[in-house]
Amino acid sequence: MSIPDKVRIVEVGPRDGLQNEKGPVIDTAVKVELINRLSDAGLNHIESASFVSPKWVPQMGDAAAVMGAINRRPGVVYAALTPNMKGLEAALRAGADEVAVFGAASESFTRNNINCSIAESIERFQPVLETAIKEGVRVRGYVSTTLGCPYEGAIDPTKVADVSSLLYDMGCYEISLGDTIGTGTPLLAKRMLEAVAAKIPLEHLAAHFHDTYGQALANYYAVLEEGLSVFDTSVAGLGGCPYANGASGNLATEELVYMLNGIGVEHGVDLDKLIDAGRYICRELGRANGSKVAYALSEPSP
Ligand code: HMG
Ligand code: MG
Repeated sequence: MSIPDKVRIVEVGPRDGLQNEKGPVIDTAVKVELINRLSDAGLNHIESASFVSPKWVPQMGDAAAVMGAINRRPGVVYAALTPNMKGLEAALRAGADEVAVFGAASESFTRNNINCSIAESIERFQPVLETAIKEGVRVRGYVSTTLGCPYEGAIDPTKVADVSSLLYDMGCYEISLGDTIGTGTPLLAKRMLEAVAAKIPLEHLAAHFHDTYGQALANYYAVLEEGLSVFDTSVAGLGGCPYANGASGNLATEELVYMLNGIGVEHGVDLDKLIDAGRYICRELGRANGSKVAYALSEPSP
């Protein structure tokens, strides 16, 4: 399989990046400014909010206000997480262009993340999919813990393929394969992808790798070599998962864009503007920038 000429980047910073931010709830206006800067940088698929319980994830409590205040750029998909009908109804009211349900390949992670079993999660997602599709809104399906679980350790790729197939068969147009805790390594990522791609066409799959162990860029390159062309990343490497201890953010979008520039794969993102967006949000949050590329390009050249 040859490397694709072009990839789609799904920017998850405003959701996956900010959901776990400690400290006071981030101002809605800051989230909106971040999203606007990301679209200005050329990102055309931005996961912008999460319609989950604010008791579980306080940072996403203003999801409707965020969705309502974005400067909507034509051609950009502003997506949101919706774990159940309550979330979907709110997301539709707020004008989400796309929604996502999120399950996992591990029972214990599912229980900790969304308070139900895998089988119950699939039952819960059924009406979400039916309603969203009836409303003309596409549904993405996440499968977490595809390369390891914080509670169960190694995960059998056939389990990942089984849960992915259930979501795909229910009508998810794309399945995003999450290395939630970032323990995966390149050959494991390839084997996992091969198991899932045996059941679901590759063009309906995406990778969502966290960078906890510094493996995400290598893992992305490994699955790019397999022909995968949709990658979830987070500006400035923001983020983590509230129900996966020690998890850090997704690979920084800046790192992926820099690598794609180097190997000549088209992506449509302006690296300078992206770096500015990352610097903006890090300044606002008072936290260090998680992108090495942003750091390297901040120094004047010798
Ligand atoms: P539950 O407690 O089982 O739900 O939570 P419930 O139906 O019993 O409702 C309990 C309360 O929550 C009720 O309020 C509901 O109204 C409210 P109360 O009567 O107590 O005042 N509620 C809601 N409020 C707002 N929006 C909703 C909603 N649903 C119920 N949609 C639930 C079940 C799924 C809601 C809960 O477990 C939850 O919100 N979990 C959040 C999980 C989460 O956001 N995790 C992080 C995102 S997933 C992730 O990061 C992984 C990913 O990036 C991929 C990867 O990296 O692998 C996608
Ligand atoms: Mg994630």
